[in-house]
Amino acid sequence: MEPSANILIIEDDKEVRNLLFESLSKLGYKIKGVGTGKDGFKEIQSGKVDVALLDILLPDINGVDLLPQIKSVNDEASVIMMTGVSDIKTVRKAIQNGAYDYIVKPIEIEDLKISIERAVEKTKLLRIHKDYNKYLEKTVAEQKEQIRKTFVGAIISLVKLLEARDIYQKGHSLRVGSIAGRIGELLGFSKERIENLRIAGFLHDVGKVIVPEEILFKPKSLNGSELLKVRKHPTAGAEILKYVIEDKETLQGIKHHHEHYNGKGYPDKLKGENIPIFGRIIAVADALDAMLSNRPYRKILSIEDVKREFIKNKGSQFDPHIVDIFLENFDNFIQGYYE
Ligand SMILES: [Fe+2]
Ligand SMILES: [Fe+2]
Repeated sequence: MEPSANILIIEDDKEVRNLLFESLSKLGYKIKGVGTGKDGFKEIQSGKVDVALLDILLPDINGVDLLPQIKSVNDEASVIMMTGVSDIKTVRKAIQNGAYDYIVKPIEIEDLKISIERAVEKTKLLRIHKDYNKYLEKTVAEQKEQIRKTFVGAIISLVKLLEARDIYQKGHSLRVGSIAGRIGELLGFSKERIENLRIAGFLHDVGKVIVPEEILFKPKSLNGSELLKVRKHPTAGAEILKYVIEDKETLQGIKHHHEHYNGKGYPDKLKGENIPIFGRIIAVADALDAMLSNRPYRKILSIEDVKREFIKNKGSQFDPHIVDIFLENFDNFIQGYYE
């Protein structure tokens, strides 16, 4: 027996209610008695009920109809129906509606006692099961977060390794990822999508590993065949990363960050909305960081020149909608660059 179990009696016949109250109290249960379906439902909502004894003919509602309501707010509580007659149809409907057991009046306390003991046991098991599931869900979520952190950490190490050979690129990828993520926020992307966008930004230039250093760091302008080699880096990046990144949008963002809105970019000469949105966003972030970083061939641009560049290339190189949103929040994006 479970002495601490909470039993609720929903029974309009005061005599029956009192009788049950007394006999069950003697067995050590905590008893509460109510006379209407409405009051019973309120008690169930409080969540402290382990087993409910439910009369079928209540003044305000039929007990069988109250069952689904009870189950909807407390699916762990076991309900034992008390029926005046052994009406098999009613009993069947009650069981279908989620009743655990039924007992025919006049009630034999000994029978009721056995039924309650089993019902309490069942409620207890359900609660253990539920707690265990909650624990599992929590553990899985924690592990997922841990894996995500490790993954992002590995990506940052990879990017730092790549940028180590190029002083002009130092920090570029991380800044592009962060700017892209902020544009994603302004566009109302989901948290998960923003995270993917940031990762795509971090990794957008990974494909540069295939470009020989003498081309990458050539102080003079590149000839045709050298340019072709450099232009392979977006596709190469997506190819390399497809083994570790499952998200298609992230890979597309990497592959298409040098497409131009007017179709004159590379690698696929995609036009307008056909350019995956991650690619269009990273293009803007990439350009901003390039304009605000010192390069061998030029110095950092002034705020006015940066704005002018974006306005000039809006609709040709860049997605006009993204540029508008970006310029509206311009001060946010240039923070840290002019210090
Ligand atoms: Fe690039
Ligand atoms: Fe870049």
